[in-house]
Amino acid sequence: MTPLDMLLSRASTDHLVEPAPSAAQLADVLATAMRAPDHGKLRPWRYVLIEGNARPLAAERIVASMLRLDPNAPEAKLTKRRTRFSTMPLIIALGMHLRPDNKIPLWEQEMAVAAATMNVLNALHATGFGAVWVSGEITEDPVLAAELGLPAPHKLAGFLFVGTPAEQRQPPRRPDPAQFSAYWTGTPVTFAADKE
Ligand SMILES: Cc1cc2nc3c(=O)[nH]c(=O)nc-3n(C[C@H](O)[C@H](O)[C@H](O)COP(=O)(O)O)c2cc1C
Repeated sequence: MTPLDMLLSRASTDHLVEPAPSAAQLADVLATAMRAPDHGKLRPWRYVLIEGNARPLAAERIVASMLRLDPNAPEAKLTKRRTRFSTMPLIIALGMHLRPDNKIPLWEQEMAVAAATMNVLNALHATGFGAVWVSGEITEDPVLAAELGLPAPHKLAGFLFVGTPAEQRQPPRRPDPAQFSAYWTGTPVTFAADKE
């Protein structure tokens, strides 16, 4: 597979089984995060690794967060999240180590975390693993973030569920990239993607 084939064949999946990447494989995968564009070299990305017996502990914190945000959260929703966070082979809580007083704007710091996350997703795919980036309202819960090691002003950017894809799936259809670019020649461009 060429590097471009690899990038073009990545797709998210939450149908994940054991094994998760070994510590050595994970170190290689996370090394790609350090290649993300990063204005000011702030290195705002942080990875909280949750595996094995830590998963049910994390799942309880997730459920507590859901109930904090919505005391009437439906039982089925709580059970689904508890199960997912207890059973995914590896969970990576994505941390944003933010510096509000830095001259680099916060949005640029957050973008660097997103860029690093994309490298991690691609590296997982390149090494035969599957993953999906999930969020939900709990991502914005400062209490949960602090419990995971990201006290304010630091934040969560979501979670990666990581493991081995349970099955080979038909790759999802993707839009035509030509719809998302246009040459600017002096007047504002329009995009085919935005036409009704
Ligand atoms: C910041 C962020 C948060 C996301 N949160 C969720 C989520 O909570 N649930 C979900 O189903 N997909 C979520 N997604 C989308 C999936 O990660 C994934 O991109 C989507 O399922 C499409 O799959 P693809 O990556 O193969 O295009 C999120 C994506 C991003 C970038």
